[in-house]
Amino acid sequence: MRSCRATCLLIPGRRAILGAGLALAPWLRNAVAATDPAALPPQPGDRFAYLTGEKQGQIIRAGDLPLGGPQVQAMPIEPKSGVVRDGSRLNLLVLARFDPAALDADTRARAGGGVVAYSGVCTHQGCPVNMWASDKGALYCSCHGSMYDPKDGAEVIGGPAPRPLPSLALAIDDDIPFVAGGFSGRVGPEQH
Ligand code: FES
Repeated sequence: MRSCRATCLLIPGRRAILGAGLALAPWLRNAVAATDPAALPPQPGDRFAYLTGEKQGQIIRAGDLPLGGPQVQAMPIEPKSGVVRDGSRLNLLVLARFDPAALDADTRARAGGGVVAYSGVCTHQGCPVNMWASDKGALYCSCHGSMYDPKDGAEVIGGPAPRPLPSLALAIDDDIPFVAGGFSGRVGPEQH
């Protein structure tokens, strides 16, 4: 399982680590990104890997997620190759599990076995939504205090965020949630 962030670029068939002194022309950077499986957005069939913690890099199983929150941070992972799609910061996701009866109808329709997935990039200014407001049962961005309701399509219930976190449609197989469709909207802040 690899863990590769902004300083690392995958070229199909071989890995190239690009040091700080090397720079690609924008057109070449875009061309490489277009063919880099790690930089693709979540694809149908992708599973999810824990981003942090003791289980970092492991596939997320629904039964391992605490019922009722908090969320875990995750990245999509291509199941056959094991490529973690961490080549774009816009692929940061949050997953949480709820009783399906606690979800509003639209949210339940996009969930898999009560597991919901949202972009983990705050729609205000792009910070990671990596905290949990237990008193509200809400996803919380500590940069400026935006809160999102994970049981109601990540609607904004506090703070300056201008719109909900886009949701990712899920399905579930043998307790493993996977990507069943695209994001419900544009990922990231207004300017990025
Ligand atoms: S970036 Fe999240 S509240 Fe400002």
